[in-house]
This record gives sequence, C-alpha cells and structure tokens, in this order.
Amino acid sequence: MLELRGIKKSFGKIEVLHGVDLTVQAGEVHALLGENGAGKSTLMKILCGILKPSEGEIRIDGEARQFADYNEAIDAGIGVVFQEFSLVPYLNAVENMFLARELSNGLGFMKRAAMRKRAGGIMKQLGIAIPLGVPIRSLSVAEQQFVEIAKALALDARILVLDEPTATLTPAEVEHLFRVMRSLRAQGVAIIFISHHLEEIFEICDRITVLRDGEYVASCDVAEVDQSRLVEMMVGRRIENSFPPKPVIPADANVVLDVEEVQLAKGGPVSSFQLRAGEILGFAGLVGSGRTETALAMLGAYPAARCRLRMNGVEIRFADPSEALAAGIGLLPESRKEQGLITSFPILHNVSLNNYGKYLLGHFFINRSRELSDTRAAMQSVRVKAPNPHVRVDTLSGGNQQKVVIARWINHNMKVLIFDEPTRGIDVGAKTEIYQLMRDFTARGYSIIMISSELPEVIGMSDRVCVFRSGGIVATVEGDAITSEEVMTHATTGRTRHVA
Ligand SMILES: Nc1ncnc2c1ncn2[C@@H]1O[C@H](COP(=O)(O)OP(=O)(O)OP(=O)(O)O)[C@@H](O)[C@H]1O
Ligand SMILES: [Mg+2]
Repeated sequence: MLELRGIKKSFGKIEVLHGVDLTVQAGEVHALLGENGAGKSTLMKILCGILKPSEGEIRIDGEARQFADYNEAIDAGIGVVFQEFSLVPYLNAVENMFLARELSNGLGFMKRAAMRKRAGGIMKQLGIAIPLGVPIRSLSVAEQQFVEIAKALALDARILVLDEPTATLTPAEVEHLFRVMRSLRAQGVAIIFISHHLEEIFEICDRITVLRDGEYVASCDVAEVDQSRLVEMMVGRRIENSFPPKPVIPADANVVLDVEEVQLAKGGPVSSFQLRAGEILGFAGLVGSGRTETALAMLGAYPAARCRLRMNGVEIRFADPSEALAAGIGLLPESRKEQGLITSFPILHNVSLNNYGKYLLGHFFINRSRELSDTRAAMQSVRVKAPNPHVRVDTLSGGNQQKVVIARWINHNMKVLIFDEPTRGIDVGAKTEIYQLMRDFTARGYSIIMISSELPEVIGMSDRVCVFRSGGIVATVEGDAITSEEVMTHATTGRTRHVA
C-alpha cells in the first residue's frame, strides 16, 4: 500500500537519511525502530509533505506521489501524530481536532454541533473521557496526547503514523490505544508505530523496519526476532541490559533533605521522607498518585496545604524553583515542552543557561572557552548526537533534546537533582549511559530523587523507594525488599495517613 524507496535527506551539507526504504501493507502495524537521531521522525515528515526529500520516491497504491505540504498528504489519506505536540494551547479539543479542516455547510459556516458530535464519537472510540470544551493547555500531558491521536483519527487516515505516542501514557492508556490500533488494523488501516519501548513492539506490531544513523538496516516480521536481536540491529552492537551496581550507603550518611511533612490538599494524606547524601531515592506509584506534585511542592512550585522541610538540618522554604536552584536543587520536569529548553538557541547556551556565574571573569567578561569546553564535555557524556555545540536545539531529534536537558544538569553544580521521568523518549543504548551518569553523580556525594513510571528502572536504580498512592507516600522500601511485587502491591493497595 505504501512504499518509500531510496529516500535521502540533507539539511545544509549534512545528509541525515542515506537512501531509506520502507514498505507498509494495509492492515498491518509496522514498527519503525532506531536510536535517537536515527532518522525516524525525519522520514515521517517526508512522508507527510512537511519536509522535501533530496532524493527518492513515495508510492501509494503503486502510484508515485509528491506532497507540497501536509494538507495534500492528508487528502491522500495520511494522518500523523507528531512527536512534538502540534496542538494550539488556547483552543479546545474540538477546535484543535478540526483546525484548518472545519466541517462546513454550503454557505461556509462551520457546523459546530457536527464537529462536537464527531469529536465526542472519536473520544468514545478511544475510550477516553476528556473535557472537550476547555483550552488544551489546561489538560494533562496524557490527555493532550489523546487529543493528538483523536485529531489524526478525525482525518479518516488510511495510513496512520504514530511517532512515540506512548511516551506520555500510563499502562492503562497504552492498552486503550492498542485496542484502538487493533480495530483500525482490522479495518485495513496501515499504521506506522514509533516507540522506544521494545515490549510494545512485540505486543502490537506485525512487521519492523530498523534504521541506524540514517541507513536502512533491515525489515522483517516481528516473529522472526527477539529483544536482544532487535537491540543489536538498532545499536549495531550488543549491550548488556544491566544497571550499574548499587553502592552501600552508610546508615549515618548525611540527611540532605528532611521533608518533615507535605500535604498536597487539605484533608489529604501527609507524607514525610528523607533524602541522604549519595543516594538515589525512587518515587514510584501510578500516574496521578502525587509523585510529581510532592516534588514540586518542596520547590515551591505547587501550592500544597502544608510543606515543612530542612536542608542540611536548616529549616528552609522555597518561594519558587529559582530559589531552590540557588540552594543547589535542580529539577528536570516531566514534560519536554516545559523543560526550559529554548529551542531556537544553540545547544551551548541551553547547557550553560542559568549558569553564567560559573563562567564570569571579573564582573563583565564571560569565559567563553571554558563554557564551550564544558558544553562539549557535557554533550559527550550523554552522547548528544549533533555536529557541534553551536547548532540550534530544534534541529535535534526528540531524544537528543532530552539529552541536552540532562547535559545541562550534569554541568550545573547541583547537590540535589530531581529527575521526573528521566529516560522518556531515550533509546536503549543511551539509557544505560544516563544510568551510569546518575551513579557517577551520586558517587560524588550528591543525591537524586528519581520519579519514574518504569518499574524496571525504579527497581534497578533506586537505593530506596517511596511508593505513592492517592496523593501521599504509603510505604518506603529499601534493599532486597525493592521488588516489582512489593512496589506494585503498595502502589495499588496501600493506605495513606490522613490529617485534617
Ligand atoms: N531541521 C533540521 N536541521 C538539521 N538537522 C536536523 C533537522 N531535523 C532533524 N535533523 C537531524 O536529523 C537526524 C535525524 O533526526 P530525527 O528527528 O529524524 O531522529 P529520530 O530517529 O526521530 O530520533 P528520536 O528517537 O530521538 O526521536 C538528527 O541527527 C537530527 O539532528
Ligand atoms: Mg523522533
């Protein structure tokens, strides 16, 4: 049904796709796999007319096609859920879904009621209850993701591209999405699915195509490969899928943060915990269990009913995250958009952002060469794939943008880092490196709070785990007690301590 042949693409002098092939049949879910920066999103942007290929051919139902823009691709039956959200924040879900493609009657009036009904129908098909009438920016990241998906479905696409749709979804929501994908597949829709979660590939996909550094590697049936073979095809080498060894944290290690009480809402549960020097403290729990809010409350970024904490024994209160930053606590937020990347700036300035104090020479001069060498070192440590530190962040692949944020925090002189879903959108190879960096950081006596929905990551990386449920901590597990069963049991059946 869909055939891409010998697709090449250059940006300026740099060629990023070197002749890629992709064939997708009607009624199949086809995984497009590869490391961060392999060229997956670029290939999909070429398919839907947003980028022009330098060479190569697109065939749909045997006919060669060239799209001048995305609208022409939509008319040809192609719908795309982009990796970066493309929603307009101040419009509501219905307006976003029918943006620039409003249903109108003969006189050109938009049929508002009809669009609302259609939108409602699609949401129902997705099995998701989302308020349709409120501005998109007031929805959660997961809800926004579903609006993206609904938007593509509203186009009646015959070829549907999903670029990392599950990165922001909970397991239950992923199941919903898979049900919808199966029913679309049964209706003969061809689906191209991009994800760094390899379990998902085995669960939902029929065929795979692997790219590496812009080269076509191979295509085959999912049934023909196992996980380690898949990784080898993507990375070009074997990687042992292990976490760095956990250090022994002395019982008398300094308590860096002593959170005596946090209560997110009046009448809700009250939590307390301690963060010790040199440890990684995991925050586990289901999405919506209060992990992120509790972390934000500590930094003065969430209006909690109460919050009392001590840093190195001294009672302290942060009015906002910039005060926390000045005290040495850095936050890597969960949503890419809010990660404070200025995407039109070069990597260099993004890595040294808020960090100029470090490079001041006297009062007026900035030590540019030191800034540059630090940035190079930080980029190398997380393997940011970019020609040099001067390129704009918005020319990087999604996963590499995430790495820039991590590079920034590694470069800062922080004592405590709070990482919210640190490896979201990061490929298998780079994950191992980020885990090692986190350990290097704590080995210097610094501490990390790691909020993560990936159970293996929580188990493999945490020295202790606070398990959240319904807005508070229900249990803290450590040592050999850190197992999936233990954590899941607390997350789903634990009791919280309520104080009026
Ligand atoms: N507008 C652009 N200008 C210059 N280079 C670009 C541009 N867009 C993408 N690239 C480069 O093309 C390469 C492929 O990027 P692409 O976004 O397709 O990767 P990806 O496979 O989707 O990765 P990820 O898993 O991180 O999303 C990267 O090296 C990226 O830096
Ligand atoms: Mg991408």
